Amino acid sequence: MSDVTASACSATRNSYSAGLMFFGAARPHDLVREFGSPLYVYNERVLRERCRDLKGLSEDPGFRVCYSTKANGNPHLLRIIREEGLIADAMSPGELAVLKRAGFRREDICYVCNNVDAAELALANARADHVSVDSVSQVESFGRVNPGGRVMARVNPGIGAGHSSKVITAGKNTKFGIHPEDFGALRAVLKKHGLKLIGLNQHVGSLFMDPKPYLDAARWLLKTAVSFPGLEIIDFGGGFGIPYRKYDREKRLGLAEFGAGFGALLSDFRAKQGFSGIFIIEPGRYIAAECSILLGTVTAVKNNGRVRYAGTDMGFNVLARPMIYDSFHDLEIYPVDGKPRPLTLQTVVGNICETGDVLAKDRLVPELVEGDVVGVLDAGAYGQAMSSNYNQRLRPAEALVRPDGSCVLIRRRDTIEDLLAVYPE
Ligand SMILES: Cc1ncc(COP(=O)(O)O)c(C=O)c1O
Repeated sequence: MSDVTASACSATRNSYSAGLMFFGAARPHDLVREFGSPLYVYNERVLRERCRDLKGLSEDPGFRVCYSTKANGNPHLLRIIREEGLIADAMSPGELAVLKRAGFRREDICYVCNNVDAAELALANARADHVSVDSVSQVESFGRVNPGGRVMARVNPGIGAGHSSKVITAGKNTKFGIHPEDFGALRAVLKKHGLKLIGLNQHVGSLFMDPKPYLDAARWLLKTAVSFPGLEIIDFGGGFGIPYRKYDREKRLGLAEFGAGFGALLSDFRAKQGFSGIFIIEPGRYIAAECSILLGTVTAVKNNGRVRYAGTDMGFNVLARPMIYDSFHDLEIYPVDGKPRPLTLQTVVGNICETGDVLAKDRLVPELVEGDVVGVLDAGAYGQAMSSNYNQRLRPAEALVRPDGSCVLIRRRDTIEDLLAVYPE
């Protein structure tokens, strides 16, 4: 997809966003001029397409796609996701608040939490129809808060999968879920508080591109569900991957293949077990990642020894994934003079006071100069959501490109007053 054009060593690199008309009627330079740099830009059409991709996975009448708010909790995006007919999961009071702002009703929300106190369990129970807890000790707390109530349990299938050990969320090396060896204790605590176990959920990890581990885990969950009669909900978790290497033509997750295997599992279970409840998947990244390109500006360039550094305003306070997980995000370059440039090996860094503040290492991209705008692809999931005020920097604004090509602000940039507001005088 690389559009090396004018000569072997003179190139542009923006064909991906251009092909999608991602920025609508505007150019990236116009957007950062209008809304400030750095800027998360979202495309509504792409977001809606991704919701529809996953809704189309199964024709089972009880199949629900539950968007994982942690990936991106902007209420303007959540409203679009709700319009597409998705339900949502929350895991904190803040996520409950943004879902409420976006119009989600309590029956549309699953609260899937981890190590929370009694007050939070009570709040979750008041605001969400389904609350899932993930240890016997949390079932005990829930029972004290809501004796005789309805609860879900997150179980741990003992196998995990994911793009980094930090996002594998099942197996013995993780803090998540109730292990089968604790099912006896789980049953005892449910009985003690008169709780009805209405559902089981699991989440084995994030960013799978091969359906097999997910389908294996789904099979395990269905087998486990048989030993808990009376369930109304079986939730298989999220983790659906997206191709981050767009310019290398990385293949997409085979949803048709996945859907065929998954659909067969669901219908077989309904037929054999007489199950009439709902089946849930809980994707975050798949829905939110590809609908955003993060724009930032080159502020300085230099050579340190043999390495050419392009310094930008996109520190890891803006996009943390490369720093935390060594994640790869493809880059696009929108040159300040609009002209092709020689391809040059460069390391793109931010403005945070840490050596690890590297956005993209050793990339062969058109030579960057001050004033160029750089686009970081697939930034919509765990991008703005994980941004911070480290170095007392301001988290960026977010803007949304509507299907008619217009662009609106959907989150303003922090201000210095926002930073100071939390400190008593
Ligand atoms: C319980 C649970 N559900 C859903 C998700 C969403 O995962 P992903 O964004 O990879 O689909 C996560 C992510 O950590 C999770 O822990």
